[in-house]
Parts: sequence; structure tokens; C-alpha cells
Amino acid sequence: MNLAPFAPAIFNINGRGIIQDASYRLIDASHPAVAGSTPIAIYCTGLGPVGHQPPSGAAALVSPLSQTTTTPTVTVGNAPALVTFSGLVPGLVGVYQVNAVTPVTAPAGDAPLVVSIGGATSNTVSMAVQAPDPDQAADALIAQMTLDEELQLVHGAYIVNPVGPLGAEEWVPGIPRLNIPDLLYADGPVGVYASFGPATALPSAMASAASWDLNEAAKYGTAIGTEVRAYGMNVWLGGNVNLGGREPRNGRTFEAAGEDPLLAGKIKAAHVRAVQDHYLIGTLKHYALNDQETGRTTAAVVTSERGERESDLLAFEIALKDSNAQSVMCSYNMVNGAYACQNDFLLNGVLKGDWGFQGFVASDAFATQSSAAAALAGLDQEQMGGYYFGGVWAPGLESAIQSGQMPQSRLDDMVHRILRAMFVAGLFNHPSAAGSFDAAADAAIAQEALEQGAVLLKNSAGLLPLDASKIGSIAVIGSHSDVGVLSGGGSAQVIPVGGPALTLSPQCPPSAVGPGAAACTNAKEVFDPSSPLAAIQAQAPKASVQFNDGTDTAAAAALAQSSSVAIVFVSQWESEGMDLPDLNFSGNQDALVAAVAAANPRTIVVMENGGPQLAPWLPQVGALLEAWYPGQRGGQAIANLLFGSVNPSGKLPITFPASVSDLPRPVIPAPIDPSSSTPFRVDYTEGFNVGYKWYDVNRISPLFPFGFGLSYSNFAFSNVSLAANGQQFQVTFDLTNTGGVTGAEVAQVYLGLPASTGEPPRRLVGWSKVFLQPGQKRSVTIAVDNADSSHPLSYWDVNSESWQVAPGDYTVYLGNSSASTGLTVAGAFHVGQ
Ligand code: BGC
Repeated sequence: MNLAPFAPAIFNINGRGIIQDASYRLIDASHPAVAGSTPIAIYCTGLGPVGHQPPSGAAALVSPLSQTTTTPTVTVGNAPALVTFSGLVPGLVGVYQVNAVTPVTAPAGDAPLVVSIGGATSNTVSMAVQAPDPDQAADALIAQMTLDEELQLVHGAYIVNPVGPLGAEEWVPGIPRLNIPDLLYADGPVGVYASFGPATALPSAMASAASWDLNEAAKYGTAIGTEVRAYGMNVWLGGNVNLGGREPRNGRTFEAAGEDPLLAGKIKAAHVRAVQDHYLIGTLKHYALNDQETGRTTAAVVTSERGERESDLLAFEIALKDSNAQSVMCSYNMVNGAYACQNDFLLNGVLKGDWGFQGFVASDAFATQSSAAAALAGLDQEQMGGYYFGGVWAPGLESAIQSGQMPQSRLDDMVHRILRAMFVAGLFNHPSAAGSFDAAADAAIAQEALEQGAVLLKNSAGLLPLDASKIGSIAVIGSHSDVGVLSGGGSAQVIPVGGPALTLSPQCPPSAVGPGAAACTNAKEVFDPSSPLAAIQAQAPKASVQFNDGTDTAAAAALAQSSSVAIVFVSQWESEGMDLPDLNFSGNQDALVAAVAAANPRTIVVMENGGPQLAPWLPQVGALLEAWYPGQRGGQAIANLLFGSVNPSGKLPITFPASVSDLPRPVIPAPIDPSSSTPFRVDYTEGFNVGYKWYDVNRISPLFPFGFGLSYSNFAFSNVSLAANGQQFQVTFDLTNTGGVTGAEVAQVYLGLPASTGEPPRRLVGWSKVFLQPGQKRSVTIAVDNADSSHPLSYWDVNSESWQVAPGDYTVYLGNSSASTGLTVAGAFHVGQ
């Protein structure tokens, strides 16, 4: 029989292809084809002559005479489908049937399907596709991959900056033949990393944590996710959940979410969840115990298992379980004798074993230490290049497999984890696509994040909020507050939308030496736009607002003396690649505040900094506002807070110590020779007593306790009751706004475990941020369940290697900070005999 050649046309109804599964059931929205598994029959015309040769590898389902002499190609989305048969439908003259398997990388939803044959392409019809099971989908791809293709996915491309397409910081080229997209990586924790171009400079992640508000944190993650995607990237590297409380001088405190595993874990989980909602792989880092930048590639942390399980690892556990993060970045340092990126205990044991992590572990940039040893310890992907895994610097994984040092099954597992993560995050179904982002919407998020996260630390005699109608003159002093607000450096640096207000060369501290120091020495101090001076003038249009840059202490004091109010801005730059030498503000800033406060007691200090600071002038100043690194709408947010259009409600996510001599390590451990690659010991003798737990155990009064923050209103707790049931309890109470303005209080629940456990006096186990009108009273319940990812009632039992609840008495505290003075006993309950 001769038929007209090659004019393929698929039968359809309103553009939807007439496509059936193996049981002749129509594929439609109520019965979609599963990517990677559902066999489909596509009905069409115009596939040309039929003959005797079945398509290679295909079973002849009907008479060989009816098969087409040319095999068509079928694509669903852009994904090529395996064609198993193509021929005439028996009994229907001129009607062809093409059998194929729905490709594993077909996009979910309504996917465009076309049939091509002999250079002719059919009409496009749509077919309903359902996303595959990620494990089956990953395996289906691996079954089609060559060894070289598998090896390609387990390390970055061997190129130095700029690394990948669209400026990706790290890049794993995809495999077009299998429709596997490139992996394109972008930092960072407070907005898209500087190298990509302008992005919304959010306030520091610490400010997000200080909001104690998971909805607010989700908005923060949404701004980041939207912009990472707009830059065409599909992996986000910014989920820094290292606990800042062990070493508050760490130059990266601003990237992370404070000292408490529960608060930091939940806040970072909210960021990562929101990011992953934008079809990106979210990364938690730096796993683990990566707490100082001094000698960051050689620090050999020594800690007890219980100490790490109940602190830094717990923060990761919570963040991971609550976010379903698909990637974890292992860190540069050593932990108990093994580098974090080839640490069998941390990677295979804790992360993949105990926590059941099914995503992939990628190394921090150049933190991979070896080939087979690292892969066998649990590292799945080397970044940035293939120096070890790809065999550039040492025999790579290919030779490890050939020599039997590493089984092929381990490589399959590494690739499986990477592909699985890509399926789970939706990278196949929602290919990355560079585009624009709504800068105005994200700027609004940046402003709100600071308005909710700034912490009012002192307010004597109601100095704040300022009443514009009653102020004749305002002195605005210091920290370039005429033009902008400071940001943090390193891989968390953002170039704000509209460009920096000012860039300066930093004075890198003595710790910025050795590997990693370039992050500081090459950095610039970037001031984000949004001039506090202009925003203050806008709030007080009738006042005379004058600026003094603060370099001349006497001149600043003179201006303060002649003004009704003085607002002094002090700032402390920090960055990856350095630690702060102490917790004092650098240069003349402490002397400046002291002089201004001496000249005018109505002095308000606004701090722009990454983490805890000392405030030797505190008794002399009237008010103190912690604005962290404020982000590109910081000026407006700060002015709104100072003048009361926004009532401060942030609470400290990290303790401010009274002195560096109160820290677990008053002197930061440092290598004798910073350029040496020999590890040096950093002993975490404080174990799980990080942050407020350390100060409570040692009965040290901090400058400001964890959880502390003032409001322009007052709040009262009443009718407090406790109901305990097994390993759950609820604290119920009335919270009343007894002041005159709308505001929010963060009710915090702390738990004291039985003395036999050796736990600190109190651990944060729950909280609720409650917004109330003046005079409004609300009944609030905070429920705590030991089944939560935070194990609130448990301690880590090293004998059974598990979380256990000890028999004994548990005391529940309620209040508005971790300080005992801020807490009342809500009740007690007993567990066990
Ligand atoms: C940092 C990571 C960052 C990476 C980017 C490293 O120096 O420690 O936090 O994600 O660079 O490549």
C-alpha cells in the first residue's frame, strides 16, 4: 500500500491530543500520564509508508506489515520519548498509532506533544502529565546514563570565575540528550549575591530571626527565591544555619539566625521552604560546627557527641526536617578528627542515616579533600570544580571505580540523590528562566523585615517614639547616615537595586589572613541606599535636621548640644573571611557616642552591625535601637520606628554579652601560622551550652539577654495555666496590651528539664508573636510536642544513640525574654515513676 509521505497530524479535541494508555483509557487531567512510566498511544495521520522492519528494539504488537518504514520521534515538552511502535491501526484505513513511554523529564501539567517524521512535524497537542515519583524518575534516568554522564553530575565545571552560564557561581552542566538541565548556583543568605547584578538588599538574616515571625521569614525567603529565579539560577546556596552564639565575633553572624537551635532552625526552614517554592533547590550550610573564620579551613573542632547533637546539629536537623531542603553544604573545618566534607559520622551517620536526608551533600567551594575517601564518607558533589572527583588533582572517581576502591553503586547513589533533588524541587517541570523581578514588592518586604526585626534595647523616660510636632532640631550623626546604611560582606554581599550609596575599602582585621582572607581583603564595605537622614527629615518636615559625619567628636558633640535630640548611627562592618577582634565598635565610634551623650542626654543610638556588640556608653544614652544590617529600605524603616509609625517588636535572637571575657573562648583560637594547612584545635568544652544557656549555667549576666526587646506599648500575662499530657504540653494564658499603642509581644516558653539530665536551667521550646490593639486581651495557647523536629522534651542519650525523655520534674516558664527576671513559672509536670 502506498500512502502520501510524511504529513503528520495528531487527532485532537480542542487542542488536547487523543492519547490513550495501555488499557485504552483516555489521558486527560483526571487521568494524567505519569512522567517516566505511562505507556501512551498517540493517534495520528500522515506517517507515510509502512513496511516490514519493526523499529529497533520494539516489540511488534500487530502485523509487521502495518509498521511505518521510518520511526517518528515524539517529544513531550522538550523531552524525547522512547518510541516503541509506530504503524497503522488495524482496520482503520490511514489512521496511525505511535506507542511511546511518557518521558521522565516531561513537564507536569499540560505538556505540548509533537510527532516528527521524515523532517515533517505535526500539529502541537497538549497532554496531561503527572510528575513522577522522584526516586523512580532518578533511577529511570540513571539507567540511560553513561559512566561519563554520571561523573559529570557529581562535580562542578572546571572553570574559574565567572563560572557558569548567566554568571552562575557554581555550575554543573546538564545532559541535553536526556533533558537534564544545568545546575546553576547562586548565593546568598540576605539576597542574590553581588556578582549577578543588582538585587534587593534585605536586612540581615539575623534581623529576620529577630522578628520571631515565621510568616515574615517566609516573605523574606520569597523575595530571595523570586530573584534567584529571575537571574536564571536553580540552586540557592544561602541557608546559613550555623549558630552564632558560640563565637559572636564571627564575621558571618549576620548571615545566620542567632544562637538558639529552635529559633534559628525554624527561621531558616521558613527561608528555605519559600525559596524551594520557586522551583529552586535550597541549601543548608555550613555543615557543621563552622563557627569561626579565623583559620576556617584548618580549624579542628573537638566536641562531645551530645554537645553537638543538642546545639549546632539540632539547628540543622530542625531546618532540614521543617523545610525539606534538598541540598546540604559541608564546611571547611574539621569535626572530631575528620574534615566535615569527608566525615562519615556527620554525613553518612547523622545526616543521611539518623535524619533520613535524601537530597545531596555538596562541598563548600574547594572544601573537598579527596576523591574516593570523601565520596565514601558521604560527599555527593564536589564544588567548585572536579579537582578530586573529576581527577584533575588526584586520581578521580572513575579510577576509584575501576580499581574497586569505590563501588559503582555509590556513584549511582550520588547521582540518584542529585537527580532526585532536581525532581523534588521541580527543576525538570519548571525550567529555570531568567526574567525580571518586582523590585518594588521586594523592597517592601525588605522594609517590613527590618520594621519587624529591629530591636529596641533601651528607651529611658519615653524618649522614643519621637514626636515630630514637638522637636525643633535634630542632629543626625555618624556612619554615613546622610547617604545610606551598612551591609555585610563576603558571599552574602548584595549589590542593592539602584546601586550602592557608597563603597569603602574595609580595614581587614588581623584574623583576615590565610585561606579565605580574600573574602575580606578583596571586599568593599557597601552602604545600601535609603538615607536615614532623608527619612528622618521626611518624618519631621518642620524640624531643622543637621548632619555631622562623626569623624570630629567635638564637632559632633557641639551639634548635639545645640539640638533638641541627637541620633547617632554607629556601625560595624563584618564579612566572611574575618572575625572581629572584639565586640566594640571600631574607630572612634564608642568615644563619639560617649561625647554626644555627654552633650545631650536626649541621645538615641542606632546600631548597624552583624551580631552582638558592647555598649560601654549605654548608661549615658537615652535610647538604643538595634537595626542589624538594615537593608536597602533601612533608612525608611529606622525612621518609621524612631517616630512610632511602626512599633518595635523584634527580640534578640542572640545574647549580647557584657564582655568578651564572658565568652566560652575569650580569645578566638587561631593557628600559629595562618598560612599553614596544619589543623589547629578548637575545643567546644561548653558542649550544648551555647548562647543564653552558657550564661545561665555560669550565672553570668549579659548586657542584653536572648529574647529581649522593648516596645512602645506594655504587655501583661495573666491566667497562665499548664496542661501536660504524655510528651506534650500546652501553656495557655491571656496576653493584654496594657499600653496606648498597637504592638506585638513575643511570648516565649522555656523548659527546665530534670536536674538528672545535666541540661541548662532553661531551653526555648516554643513561642508566639501576638499583635494586639491598645487594651486588647487575647487568649493564647503555645503547644509543645516532643514529636516536633526540635525534640523539646528530650536529651541526646549517647548510650542508646537516641533522643530520650528523662523521668523527673519539668518546669515550664513563660515570659518575654530568656532572663529569669522576664519569666514566670507557668507550671510543672512529672514524667515517669
Ligand atoms: C562560602 C559559602 C559560599 C561559597 C560560594 C564560600 O566561600 O563559605 O558560604 O556559598 O563560597 O561559592
